[in-house]
Amino acid sequence: MKVNGTHYRSLWWNADDAVLEIIDQRSLPYAFITQPVRTMQDFADAIVEMRVRGAPLIGATAAYGMALAMAQDPSDANMDRAWDDLNATRPTAINLRWALNRCRAALQPLPIAQRADAALALAHAIADEDVEINRQIGEHGLQLIRDIAAHKPPGEPVRLLTHCNAGWIATVDWGTATSPMYHAHDAGIPLHIWVDETRPRNQGALTAWELGSHGVPHTYVTDNAGGHLMQHGLVDMVITGTDRTTRSGDVCNKIGTYLKALAAKDNGVPFYVALPSPTIDWTVSDGVAEIPIEERDARETTHIQGTRDDGSLGVVQVTPAGTPGGNPAFDVTPSRLVTGLITERGICEASAEGLAGLFPDMAVAA
Ligand code: MRU
Repeated sequence: MKVNGTHYRSLWWNADDAVLEIIDQRSLPYAFITQPVRTMQDFADAIVEMRVRGAPLIGATAAYGMALAMAQDPSDANMDRAWDDLNATRPTAINLRWALNRCRAALQPLPIAQRADAALALAHAIADEDVEINRQIGEHGLQLIRDIAAHKPPGEPVRLLTHCNAGWIATVDWGTATSPMYHAHDAGIPLHIWVDETRPRNQGALTAWELGSHGVPHTYVTDNAGGHLMQHGLVDMVITGTDRTTRSGDVCNKIGTYLKALAAKDNGVPFYVALPSPTIDWTVSDGVAEIPIEERDARETTHIQGTRDDGSLGVVQVTPAGTPGGNPAFDVTPSRLVTGLITERGICEASAEGLAGLFPDMAVAA
């Protein structure tokens, strides 16, 4: 997508320097800073520190990490070490393990001398596939938005609510939850997006930055506003992303997603999840019992980052000194609360039958 008129992906290969470049998302939306990722430690740090974040982007980054490992030392032992080190960076988004497993399965059978080139080609392929998957999610989601628009007076916006940032910077391009929004906006359908702030890290500010850059009308609201907006008939549909969806359709996503789904159910608002197939964990069924939830530093809850009126960046504490903070970063929305899953192959029910119907090849292989 475009930043100040220039098209960017959220990561790209700098062939001149033979290095991966990323956007440091810790400085967004205040400053747009790109940087190279040069060492294996740099790769792990970039994911742990959330310079790169969002399930699909973490997966693509890990694939480039594997490519660096193979360029440095293409032995089996180094491949296993890279797998372990990268897999340990964040526990919840399954795209990380998916990408690492895919790399290992493709590279292990190859002669040592071929692994470095093959690993880089595979990382490029994973990044390109992510873009195409998200484009297709956008086309399928566009149909849902078109249907809502068709029942409104001409010119009246379709009002969508989203949580966290499942936007283009959380993927390689397009985003998942935002892809239908970008497609609808580009198709001339009037939209208005309610953007949840998404405490504690305020990923909603990233979504607001993206939507604003693309000219999509939106309003930034507190995390607690969604139920009220739905009760007053101000939300036509909720679309979120996901970090891991089980084979039975339970959706793990950024903390607070579950509460939005409950409010949507109570108010008869359709609740859709944009789900690229690499985010499906075919090995688990019960999301609440089986998905590991990342517990992040409590400082993210007790402190908040922002810009002062003079434009300088600062961090302030919002609690009394010494107040303990708790920071589970994700929650699980049971499939019964999910109206449908928007995948690259179409829209299905959030159920084992729905997912296996669209992905019989993957369901059988699991
Ligand atoms: O902790 P984050 O910012 O990596 O969490 C991101 C989310 O929860 C997204 O909704 C999810 O990864 C989908 S991104 C297309």
